[in-house]
Amino acid sequence: MQTDKPNGVFISTYGCQMNVNDTERMLSLLEMINLEGVATPEEASVIIINSCSIREKAVHKVHSEAGKYRRLKEKNPELKIGVGGCVGQQEKNKLLSDVPVLDFVFGTDAIDTLPQIVQEVREKNTRKVATKLTPKEPYQIETLVRNPGVATFVNITKGCDNFCTFCVVPFTRGREKSRDIDEIINDVKRLIARGVKEVSLLGQNVNSYKSTQGDNFSKLLRRLAEETKIERIRYTTSHPKDFDVELAHIMRDYREKIMEYIHLPAQSGNSEVLERMNRGYTRKEYIAKAHMLLKEVPGAVLSSDLIVGFPGETEAQFQETMSLLDEVPYESLYAFNYSPRPLTKAAKLPDQVAEEVKSERLSRLLAKHRDIAFNLAKKYAGQTLQVLVEEYHVTEDRCFGRSTQNKSVHFQGSRDLIGKTIAVRVTEAYPSTLYGVAEISGVAEISGVAEISGEVIK
Ligand code: SAH
Ligand code: SF4
Ligand code: F3S
Repeated sequence: MQTDKPNGVFISTYGCQMNVNDTERMLSLLEMINLEGVATPEEASVIIINSCSIREKAVHKVHSEAGKYRRLKEKNPELKIGVGGCVGQQEKNKLLSDVPVLDFVFGTDAIDTLPQIVQEVREKNTRKVATKLTPKEPYQIETLVRNPGVATFVNITKGCDNFCTFCVVPFTRGREKSRDIDEIINDVKRLIARGVKEVSLLGQNVNSYKSTQGDNFSKLLRRLAEETKIERIRYTTSHPKDFDVELAHIMRDYREKIMEYIHLPAQSGNSEVLERMNRGYTRKEYIAKAHMLLKEVPGAVLSSDLIVGFPGETEAQFQETMSLLDEVPYESLYAFNYSPRPLTKAAKLPDQVAEEVKSERLSRLLAKHRDIAFNLAKKYAGQTLQVLVEEYHVTEDRCFGRSTQNKSVHFQGSRDLIGKTIAVRVTEAYPSTLYGVAEISGVAEISGVAEISGEVIK
């Protein structure tokens, strides 16, 4: 089957950063069997849908995307189409029977066997399902990334044991496992040698990290800061119940390297709803933790996820989610309508909230947060922030990077600034994007009005 010229693989990616990172791993692994990433499905001889199941219509999205490829397969019967990610893990062989155009389905623990799966499907012309979770095997996973650039992801844990009653992740990613601490440190050292300046540590619940030697997440952060030359460390997602003062102090003591942005998903502002969600904290405890962080971590910037319309949520309980925004200054917020997920406890609860009620609550919540976010952003105007430059946009002669608060920052610059940390004075501030001028000689001020387009160098 194989020719000297590489074949193309096209992967479409849904969901969280874990999935984005998994796609990169798949592309790196498939290069080993002479498959090269391509930008469109038309150029591909293998197409993979890396799916997400976190909210509604997840299976439907996979069906409809696969349906679009039917025409390509009619033209090229050699084309192989597969589904990976959380819908693949959840639906298993049912996907193959429901979607005839599919050739393979692989789960979240089968990524490393993807080259064999693809080879088998191509050579034997069979269909294949590989969705076994491997709870007994240790979690060893060196980061595989083709062009890591300036900033990259590093997985430190996978799976989740929290079983929040609304969430499908414990079923699609399996039991929580942590990587060995020395393995992570060596991984980061290798990435630094390839030019990486910033790592984002990834896990469903990073601060429940526990190495085989019993080291916790604070210890991991401290060792990374002390033993490697990494310039910046970010992490996501931290669970409020596992956030302690020790971690806040590590962030404070190593603030030159550990970024002050903390994503701390609350999910609800009402204690009864939190209890039914099985989140492990009350409203009061959550607020106290958020205030502890604001006090102990200099310049801490918080963001959150909130769910509206959890089964049984009353208007009064929703009002407590609204008022949480007055208690905790979230600079960014990701809010969602509750969506019943397969296998989860909440999906079976009585008193499911009507869709119109959820959507109406969500729009009130987002409108309230919009005003708050605009007000909070104002403080950045006139401030000088440290920006790690990730890209250069040729047409506009603009650099793009991120500040230590995780804000996107645009400023006039040159391509040789990629990979450097530049002091940028902010001239215009919006909730997630800032425009500014570099505090180095010879660069002009820019405004946020111009569109970013054209060639991008990374
Ligand atoms: N591990 C993270 C969350 C990962 S899922 C944590 O515990 O905070 C990302 C977000 O999706 C969640 O924070 C939640 O707000 C949202 N989410 C998960 N399941 C959902 C559901 N069934 N309906 C609506 N939103 C959901
Ligand atoms: Fe889902 Fe809860 Fe685990 Fe987050 S902590 S992944 S919301 S079960
Ligand atoms: Fe989605 Fe799975 Fe991530 S459900 S959010 S891709 S862990």
